[in-house]
Amino acid sequence: MQLNSGILFKLENIVGQSFVFTDEETRNHYGHDETEDYVFPPHVVVKPSSAKEIAEILKIANQYKIPVVPIGARTGLSGGALSVQGGIGLSMERFNKILSIDEQNLQVITEPGVITQVLREAVSEKGLFYPVDPSSMGSCFIGGNVAENAGGARAVKYGVTKDYVLNLEVVLPTGDIIWTGANTLKNSTGYNLTQLMVGSEGTLGIVTKIVLKLLSKNTHNVLMLVPFYKANEACEAVSAIFRAGIVPSALEFMERDAIDWALEFIEGLSVQVKPEIQAHLLIEVDGNYPEILMVDAEKIMTVVEQFQIDDILFADTEDEKKALWKMRRSIAEAVKANSIYKEEDTVVPRYELPKLLEGIKSIGKKYGFKSVCYGHAGDGNLHVNIIKGTLSDQEWNTEITKGIREIFELTVSLNGTLSGEHGIGYVQKEYMDIAFSKTHLELMERIKFVFDPNGILNPGKILP
Ligand code: LAC
Ligand code: ZN
Repeated sequence: MQLNSGILFKLENIVGQSFVFTDEETRNHYGHDETEDYVFPPHVVVKPSSAKEIAEILKIANQYKIPVVPIGARTGLSGGALSVQGGIGLSMERFNKILSIDEQNLQVITEPGVITQVLREAVSEKGLFYPVDPSSMGSCFIGGNVAENAGGARAVKYGVTKDYVLNLEVVLPTGDIIWTGANTLKNSTGYNLTQLMVGSEGTLGIVTKIVLKLLSKNTHNVLMLVPFYKANEACEAVSAIFRAGIVPSALEFMERDAIDWALEFIEGLSVQVKPEIQAHLLIEVDGNYPEILMVDAEKIMTVVEQFQIDDILFADTEDEKKALWKMRRSIAEAVKANSIYKEEDTVVPRYELPKLLEGIKSIGKKYGFKSVCYGHAGDGNLHVNIIKGTLSDQEWNTEITKGIREIFELTVSLNGTLSGEHGIGYVQKEYMDIAFSKTHLELMERIKFVFDPNGILNPGKILP
């Protein structure tokens, strides 16, 4: 599809000529996110700055049935921001203002193009805490977090994006602008459109304002790195920690390769790992009372010492803590730097984690692929990186897909599902039949139709 000059002229009239781009470089730049090596450029990149401008754009797109893909910081891992059918790439980068921080009610109203870490720091300056911390928080947009219902390491104690979204301003394909809920902590008023929008990956409407709930900041934390001789025991220890009555503020699992690759990838980081160590748990507890945190840490030690572990490393200084978190948060990039890969975002009830890991490894043996697993073990959320290594393109494109299907079948058989926090987007939609019946998928299709009867919003995503 080629956008004719009449439509480009209309778009320029709405946002101004300097915010409409058709050159190849810009289109390619906005045509990729962090999902593998996919590039799907939109035909035109448009950078609006208000909900009203978006409303006008959507009216035109709806009239001429032109795809519209909202684009944030392009850090997504499921291809949500890829313009797979071309059309208008709607960059949200000019929606970069935090509109108000309500210190009385512990809320923030923000535009979607604010970098998550910038938002976290702005509220932190007022003694407030926005806990959701995806690994990409230094560059991702809060709007993208809403679109994908992003999680992160602190989700295990504090929850994911959806748990903080109170209300959203949304532009619908008709050009109507609505607020989905209210700025209240409780709301039993009608269908919950706020939560329907969260995680809908830009397929139902374009979010232009976000009201988030905040917490007050806590002051202390204890961080420890526990090396396990057996990876399955590290997974077993996860549910044991909760069963001992502890709720850690982070409980991350890292297979040996994940740590090795991250250490290679980041300069100047020294964590000594004995050759026999198969996996690590990175465990944090937080709160306001150091004495209580020490008691929690001791309880955790009692639990993990029931397994075959090596010496626990306690991060004594802020710098040591930063280094361990940097190592953990760099794994995705480190894997990407190492090999062509596919990332799956499996999630199961946490007690099933050892079965999930074991199953993934045996599926890997069957189909001849290596996997590097890590993730938010406390949430039962395991990122499975399937490594291309020396596999041929033919094997990569056929056999591996069968293996991935088996991984998802295993995940669902363990009462889990396809994605914990990265979304379905473009790359996982062919597996949706594993998690949902035909009836269920048809219901989702009908919901999509109610919002977007012409199918202009982020077509080719989520639904198979
Ligand atoms: C992480 C991202 C990949 O956990 O979700 O690092
Ligand atoms: Zn993650």
